Amino acid sequence: MTRTRCDRTPAWSQLQAHYQSAGQQLDLRQAFAQDPQRFDRFSQQAPHVFADLSKNRIDAATQALLLQLAQQCGVVEHRNAMFSGEAINTTEHRAVGHVLLRNPPLALVEPAQAAINVVASTAWGDAQAQVHATLDAMLAYAERVRADAAITDVVNIGIGGSDLGPQMAVLALQAFAMPGKRFHFVSNVDGHELAATLQGLKTESTLFLVASKTFTTIETMTNAHSAKAWFAAQGGTDTARHFAALTTNVAAANAFGITTTFGFWDWVGGRYSVWSAIGLPLAIAIGAEGFRQFLAGAHDMDAHFRTAPLEANLPVRLGLLDVWYRNFHGFSSRSIAPYHSALKRLPAYLQQLEMESNGKRVDATGVFLPYATAPVLWGEPGTNGQHAYFQMLHQGTDVVPVEFVAVKKARHTLAGHHTLLLANVLAQAQALMLGQDDPDTASSGGEGPRHFTGNRPSTFMLLEDLTPTSLGALIALQEHRVFVSGSIWGINSFDQWGVELGKVLAKDAERRLGSGDAAGLDGSTAGLLEKLRAK
Ligand code: F6P
Repeated sequence: MTRTRCDRTPAWSQLQAHYQSAGQQLDLRQAFAQDPQRFDRFSQQAPHVFADLSKNRIDAATQALLLQLAQQCGVVEHRNAMFSGEAINTTEHRAVGHVLLRNPPLALVEPAQAAINVVASTAWGDAQAQVHATLDAMLAYAERVRADAAITDVVNIGIGGSDLGPQMAVLALQAFAMPGKRFHFVSNVDGHELAATLQGLKTESTLFLVASKTFTTIETMTNAHSAKAWFAAQGGTDTARHFAALTTNVAAANAFGITTTFGFWDWVGGRYSVWSAIGLPLAIAIGAEGFRQFLAGAHDMDAHFRTAPLEANLPVRLGLLDVWYRNFHGFSSRSIAPYHSALKRLPAYLQQLEMESNGKRVDATGVFLPYATAPVLWGEPGTNGQHAYFQMLHQGTDVVPVEFVAVKKARHTLAGHHTLLLANVLAQAQALMLGQDDPDTASSGGEGPRHFTGNRPSTFMLLEDLTPTSLGALIALQEHRVFVSGSIWGINSFDQWGVELGKVLAKDAERRLGSGDAAGLDGSTAGLLEKLRAK
């Protein structure tokens, strides 16, 4: 399909004019005073996720123009192309199929939902059948591991999408995890990580999952080889029982010596792969039924993204807001603040999702883009962030839109904590928007060290409860909002060429560290090489 670049659409120029005439001056406090319906107008319940966008610097005119921008850029056609299996990952000539991974078998779907369940295309071939067969096999295996009391430790060896998704989700859903099994995630090539993990393990009670889409990633292969050597050195023999591989490259896993394998497909991007065999640690933790609920929550969000009108389509509204902030306001980062300690790894997970997908400076055809793309994404769970960098969010010179994620229900019984947590997230969103004059200088204009400008934007997401279903929906929501902004920016959100150069140079540097060969190096690298080699 041909895509129209955003800066060549009429809506883009209109948004520029709108920003100059109204957008940049919009004051949230006035906007609420003028429009008693603002909360209703700019908030919505999507499947399993409520989102309040009303504390963002948008008004009805902004939203209308942004929706026109989406139309004119062909976001709908692009979205439909993804769902119907077209090769929208144009640089790698692949379809983008994470939505297919959570498409339930028709037999499990209520007749009324059957229409939205079907991906209307033959382009997928028998992919859906393969997905369900692999899922069934993987979940049956997960149940066997759960029932196997002798296995107490599950070690996931993987990096990037083969680590962040399962790690984030296992932590997030710890309230649903079975007792008696510990989960470890080893990603870094830094041997300190693997060594520390191995220290507490016994071969007979450990299951290693080697998770790698390609089965070539240097960090993962190095860790997997060391784990295998440790296993043998400790007298372990039954590799089929103690090692499994999660990969699209089953042949390489077999060659490595792993016979228990669960496959997936090249049309599943690494950062979109938690729904595939890469999700096995989560399936072991929460069980087959829980994993199916995780998929079902994501599928509910897929159906919403695929069918809701653009103006009531939450991923679309969020993706457009991201474009508005990045390209018109010039905000260069977004802070994610999950007010739930189990969502500790959500910022890291979203970092890869946003920045590896949309951190690009060429369009899908390789032409340089004259406008900004992905913001920097960062954050920590609240209330910890409040005592670290929120100072800057409230009073710094840069405006950083904040995305709060709160969960209404607590799964502990400690008195008072949850109300205090919710009070804090509410207060932070309020304080960012309201601001305050410095009380000492209020009469002279209110400037001073205790002055808060206010009018600082935030989005507030609310889950009733943190469950497999709601987590699935939340993650799918984030995937689709990244799709929308990437689509508007005209980039291919599904490749990651930017990671390749460093990999090639690391190989070369490894050789040079061994030999000392500094020929052809720049002065700094040569100097550092010498220092690193000095006895
Ligand atoms: O280097 C980036 C990357 O390719 C990510 O996109 C991916 O999630 C990660 O490496 C791990 O790759 P693999 O699963 O193939 O080991």
